[in-house]
Amino acid sequence: MEQSAQRRVPIESQRVDAPLTSSAVLLTLTLTDPAAGSEAVRIVRGVLADLEDITKNVAFRDLDAALACTVGIGSDVWDAVTGAARPAELHPFRGVVGAVHTAPSTPGDLFVHIRANRRDLCFELERQLLDRLHGAVLVTDETVGFRYFDARDLLGFVDGTANPVGDALPAATLVDASDPAADPAAHGGSYLVAQKYVHSLAAWNRMSVEQQEAVIGRTKLDNIELADASASEQKSHKTLSTITDDDGVEHDILRDNMPFGSPGHGEFGTYFIGYTARLWVIERMLERMFLGDPPGKHDRLLDASTALTGGVFFVPPAGLLAGLGD
Ligand code: HEM
Repeated sequence: MEQSAQRRVPIESQRVDAPLTSSAVLLTLTLTDPAAGSEAVRIVRGVLADLEDITKNVAFRDLDAALACTVGIGSDVWDAVTGAARPAELHPFRGVVGAVHTAPSTPGDLFVHIRANRRDLCFELERQLLDRLHGAVLVTDETVGFRYFDARDLLGFVDGTANPVGDALPAATLVDASDPAADPAAHGGSYLVAQKYVHSLAAWNRMSVEQQEAVIGRTKLDNIELADASASEQKSHKTLSTITDDDGVEHDILRDNMPFGSPGHGEFGTYFIGYTARLWVIERMLERMFLGDPPGKHDRLLDASTALTGGVFFVPPAGLLAGLGD
């Protein structure tokens, strides 16, 4: 990725590896009429075809602010909106019901992830997009996220350290067009899982810092990784979200979690955003967190965190969106 100081053009739309920014808008939309050929679908297709231009229009006003936009399309509207072959793993979010905690599946046809280092640019892009989409969509959730100190979540831990870097980043997030075994319908795209969590800071702060560190699997102040627990013991969040396949290969994902909230309304949250080339990897993380491994020993992070939403989307490459215009 180009360094911001040298940037002379805006970030292309649909770049899942866009920089981690200090501000973000997370929008979940449903179509007012999802039937193929409806007026709502026609409007949505037109806006998606113009996404690159609309984003560029706002981004160019301050290139160093690194404005970027990615749009994910949900399973229920994929066929009507794109008319393209379905990515093989695309299906609605599968809720996970654990003995104590639940990851619910909630409505969402489109997910818009806007990032920038300036809140006003995020605002302006959201305004222009919703203006164009007027009448075609309902906003089911709008969350404004912000970077909190040195990339910490509102529980006080540095969040995002284990994200893949270098060549491992596209390998983890983009369905590889050069791999003959990869799903051709998904080439160059990424699966996106979004979940909005709210925290009980009272419950979290009842724990000592040592207990919190054991829950996360890292130290709080200096972010040092702690050793994994043994197979039968209570595992940390870090260990439960580490996925290894039958061949011993570990599968990373890209997380762009954003804190959000309002102290005046007692709201403290983390918006989980995960990009992956393999949806099953995030699904397995969620099962391990909510059901526990071994079963019953769920992720203790959930004792202070409630998932309010859950959605799965596919983020197609920019070229697919550009082709949706009439
Ligand atoms: C309440 C919401 C969440 C919070 C506050 C949170 C926080 C954290 C923190 C502080 C870390 C350790 C530092 C790091 O590597 O980033 C971490 C790691 C991680 N989290 Fe979460 N997380 C949340 C939800 C989730 C969910 C829903 C998933 C996946 C479904 C997930 C997947 C991961 C992964 C893959 C790692 C890296 C593990 C490793 O390889 O070390 N997290 N999270």
